[in-house]
Amino acid sequence: MLEQKILDIKKQAIEEIGKAADSKKLFDLKVKYLGRKSEFTEILKGLKDLAVEEKRKIGQLANEVKKEIEQELDKAERNLRAKSFDLSKEKIDITIPGHKKKIGHLNILTQTQNEIEDLFTSMGFEIADGPEVELEYYNFDALNMPKDHPARDMWDTYWIKGKSNKEGIVLRTHTSPVQMRYMEKHQPPLMIIVPGKCFRREATDAKHEHTFYQFEALVVGKDINIGNFKYVGEQFFSKFFKKDIKVRLRPSYFPFTEPSFEFDISCTVCGGKGCRTCENIGWLEIGGCGMVNQAVFEAAGYKRNAWQGFAWGFGIERLAMMKYKISEIRLFNSGDLRFIKQF
Ligand code: DAH
Repeated sequence: MLEQKILDIKKQAIEEIGKAADSKKLFDLKVKYLGRKSEFTEILKGLKDLAVEEKRKIGQLANEVKKEIEQELDKAERNLRAKSFDLSKEKIDITIPGHKKKIGHLNILTQTQNEIEDLFTSMGFEIADGPEVELEYYNFDALNMPKDHPARDMWDTYWIKGKSNKEGIVLRTHTSPVQMRYMEKHQPPLMIIVPGKCFRREATDAKHEHTFYQFEALVVGKDINIGNFKYVGEQFFSKFFKKDIKVRLRPSYFPFTEPSFEFDISCTVCGGKGCRTCENIGWLEIGGCGMVNQAVFEAAGYKRNAWQGFAWGFGIERLAMMKYKISEIRLFNSGDLRFIKQF
């Protein structure tokens, strides 16, 4: 009796599976014939009440049938899938251009710094580096500005709370302290540039940022003179702007140079004739420079008047702004993609 019933279930199941038109229907059949509430499961549950011999026989048969139904279901599922596989839809047009991965790029400021570094290393300069959080000594004292020197007011300074071995701590206001750090460890002749971040406690506007980049230059030798200085400047700016640039020096003051100058270049837009960019002067102001003060050499441990050298500190943003016609310095650190993606 039970045996017959199992065989009937099998017959019916296989028939229905054969007619199933989609996977959903197959799933329903699986539930109907093998699920927890199926007739089949009921039979298996009832096995425990049978005599031992019966139990073995029926149990074996039930298991075989269960396996067969499962196999039928699998087979039907595979057949359905094979039928629904439409080759014309699966074709890949390998001539369609792929989706390009978007990758980032260096900020225009970093690109400019790299370019400056390349130009100077090609002229035989080395690149030096120093801390952004700096001792008061290197930022001021060693540069010929003792504690009470009024010239310290030329730099609006961020002071860090606390001291290091009685020395005040600042965020460096310029890259000039690296001159001293480098000279303490090296003997002339030397030619370095020092690109790096500087900080000033200033209200910001289109031309001023509290955080900005400078690159310092320092060249020291037996008879380095202002002529060498102008020549190196001319070479660098002509290569940087890819056109002939003239340079001029105007008297100025810095405690760490004597004499000191403001460094101008011929206008990169009009070449010196006068235009809006240079406010009809024909010249653009670049930054401070001069011949290294002997007091600075002494602080570095060099003998007074044994060496001569020139130095400058120019703003990297300022050069990038001139080269790429950017009118607002605060854009560099803004993170604004509309700006960043242009370069
Ligand atoms: N450190 C000065 C500043 O930040 C610029 C400067 C002037 C650097 C004269 C120099 C120099 O090396 O010789 O304004």
